[in-house]
Amino acid sequence: MSTACAVRHTPTVLTLQFGDGSTGEFLSVWLMDNDPQHRDAFSGQRLVDVADLPLDRTLHAVRVDGTDILIEWSDPIANSRLSIEWLHQHRARPASDVHYWSDGAQRDALKDCAWLSHSAYAQDIAQTAIWLRRLVTEGIAFISAVPTHEGAILSAVAPMGHVIDTNYGRLFDVRAVAVAENLAYTDRGLGLHTDNPYRDPVPGFQALHCLLAASEGGDSLFADGWAVAEYLRTTDPESFATLTTTAVPFHYRSAAAELRAERPLIQLTAHGAVCAVHYNNRSIAPLQLATSELQRFYRAYQRFALLLREPRFQMHLRLRPGDLVVFDNQRILHGRTAFASMREARHLQGCYLSRDSVFSTVAILNRQQRTV
Ligand SMILES: [Fe+2]
Repeated sequence: MSTACAVRHTPTVLTLQFGDGSTGEFLSVWLMDNDPQHRDAFSGQRLVDVADLPLDRTLHAVRVDGTDILIEWSDPIANSRLSIEWLHQHRARPASDVHYWSDGAQRDALKDCAWLSHSAYAQDIAQTAIWLRRLVTEGIAFISAVPTHEGAILSAVAPMGHVIDTNYGRLFDVRAVAVAENLAYTDRGLGLHTDNPYRDPVPGFQALHCLLAASEGGDSLFADGWAVAEYLRTTDPESFATLTTTAVPFHYRSAAAELRAERPLIQLTAHGAVCAVHYNNRSIAPLQLATSELQRFYRAYQRFALLLREPRFQMHLRLRPGDLVVFDNQRILHGRTAFASMREARHLQGCYLSRDSVFSTVAILNRQQRTV
């Protein structure tokens, strides 16, 4: 609980100094728009429309009343009461919940990533909440000792979010087959990539469950694409700008599906922060651009590709039977080393979870923990 220790205001801006030393500035129209008396008591949904807000209403007097801030407006018919705790939670501040890891080669996945046993997931709520928070801040986390029967992945990930159905089905098998409609279904090594950038929306989180491991090869590779993108921004801002502004067409075609989508390889928020990386050289369709634009794009694309090949960004791990990895498919690139399918089988099963449903699970657990 935060209490305000200092309050000041101008006609249009309320400034609060909170008990933890942080400061919040709140614009008058924002305060009117978020006044709790204009929310539905049951759903919490807003009952006013911005078009009806009186922009000429100014702050007349402000004072602390217990755990609330009381605002008298210049128009005295509608004074407001807002909780200090709520204002503290909703003050403007840089969103920095991302834990970037650009030191993939230094990381020991067994020690440096979040792990939870299958039996503890959703049973030990405190540990599950920690695991999920690390999943969304680090982009990757692991579950151990998931039963190694086919389909077990679906019940293992059900408490994390909503599995999405695609042309590959609700789950897909990653193993070498004679006639592969996707290179993933061979024993070739696969360079770092994100899955399905040709799909709209792009799968949010991906889960892979190891049923059979190769004793040689078939190591999984992971890299934090957002960290590599930030490295590119620092070292080659021109390439970074090109990759954030060039719409790249992706295409996938099989007997049962014809999928197309267009998006930049590095996607930014309105604030300029990296919020998605889409990188899959197997499914980039021909770019239909002027040669000068192509020249700029290929220079930047190759620069990014060379960075992704650098071992220092890559975390290696050979998944053991029963291991299940979950990662943000719009952030963490994954790949694998080659293996000899003629000698021994390697079999993973995978599925995709919608991104917002995983964040929703995290938020609900956080909410439950706050009320405990
Ligand atoms: Fe993949």
